[in-house]
Amino acid sequence: MKKIAVIFGTRPDTIKMAPIIKELEHQTEHFNLITIATAQHRQMLDQVLDVFKIKPDYDLNIMKPLQTLATITKNTIEELDIIFEKEKPDLVLVQGDTTTTFVGSLAAFYRQIPVGHIEAGLRTNDKSNPFPEEINRRLTSTITDLHFAPTQTAKEALLAENVNPKNIFVTGNTVIDALSYSVKKDYVFSSDTLNKIIDQDKKIILVTMHRRENLGEPMKSACHAIKNLALSYKDYNIIFPVHLNPKVQDVAQSILGNIPNIFLIEPLDYLDFVNLMSKSYLILTDSGGVQEEGPHFGIPILVLREVTERPEAVEYGTVKLVGLDEHNIFTTADNLLNNEDEYIKMASAVNPYGDGLSSKRTIQIIKNYFQISNNPIIEFNPLAINEISDHIVLTENLEYENNF
Ligand code: UD1
Ligand code: UDP
Repeated sequence: MKKIAVIFGTRPDTIKMAPIIKELEHQTEHFNLITIATAQHRQMLDQVLDVFKIKPDYDLNIMKPLQTLATITKNTIEELDIIFEKEKPDLVLVQGDTTTTFVGSLAAFYRQIPVGHIEAGLRTNDKSNPFPEEINRRLTSTITDLHFAPTQTAKEALLAENVNPKNIFVTGNTVIDALSYSVKKDYVFSSDTLNKIIDQDKKIILVTMHRRENLGEPMKSACHAIKNLALSYKDYNIIFPVHLNPKVQDVAQSILGNIPNIFLIEPLDYLDFVNLMSKSYLILTDSGGVQEEGPHFGIPILVLREVTERPEAVEYGTVKLVGLDEHNIFTTADNLLNNEDEYIKMASAVNPYGDGLSSKRTIQIIKNYFQISNNPIIEFNPLAINEISDHIVLTENLEYENNF
């Protein structure tokens, strides 16, 4: 029996860790699972825990209004150390690039516990963009023993940093596993507000924004572009579930409040959000996860960032990097909404991020690491999705679950 401690704390790392947790829950003959929520987020974390029916074994409950990076770090590390000392896990799994991710890996390192990093190797090579995530990722990679890279590009970034190739595995991104369970054709939204907006039967432009480096002037500039779009395209509805950070709430409310076809709503629970995504016509976002989910539906995405650590969908053409300049955001969106050929070109559904089997691959790799099994690992390759998916399912002889 191997004891695996899984650490998470915010909305995105929990969504992406959920399929891994579900896989581990099905393998009780091999693994003793310990789930640890730092609760760097509270309400937005609880929404995800509810959807995926996860009840953390430990909940550090650290979130404070307007918390700083230092307080998240300080309030997390000692608590994790105490848990690790008591539980003595054989492996700690962290996901992504949040402060929870980095501190989770650091606390494991201090106790000399091996670390597996889910979604390893994303890089912009700009330490201020995204801030502080680029550095959280790099620091986590330095500590990590098993690097689960979602794409070949991510693997190459790790190789360029002299990570031992034997410890890097291209798994695809678990965000696509979560999507495969969650999007339904006949889905009924739980939010009444959303049902009323959707009943208006207008095309939907979906917006999300929250990045620390965009707070203040860059976010204001993007909001002015969105306001201009709303005034120019009254036959579209713009839906913006606003992140609970008061700095985001203030800017969004002050610039976009009281415009009839802009709906500033509470963060949606994951199921409502991804099903709304699947019905949207265009997405404007600075989110990392949304950039990976959009291409799954073939929905054009304008990314409100100067650089992205997710270049694959930009290369395939579903995603455009538009930055934070008001004029640039407006003209790119305007062009897309007016030019059907351009829209169709962007809307061609190619998904470079996963085939829904990333968590199964990850668990297979962990089993091999502990010599519980010795199965060949077929890495994720977006150009051979069907072939590989069949192979993995046959090799592992696992039933593909359709819901949580
Ligand atoms: C964090 C991550 C970021 C990730 C984002 C996902 C770090 C440094 N940042 O950024 O990588 O993209 O989560 O959303 O790890 N708040 C609430 N309730 C919640 C969540 C947040 O009120 O459920 C408010 C609080 O005032 C909190 C603030 O938002 O202090 C900021 O939260 P924090 O986790 O520090 O940063 P995010 O911008 O959410
Ligand atoms: N998401 C959600 N509700 C929302 C907005 C986003 O559940 O109102 C989900 C979305 O589907 C994606 C994840 O949250 O899986 C992205 O989180 P976020 O944008 O907060 O963080 P990032 O991915 O930028 O780190």
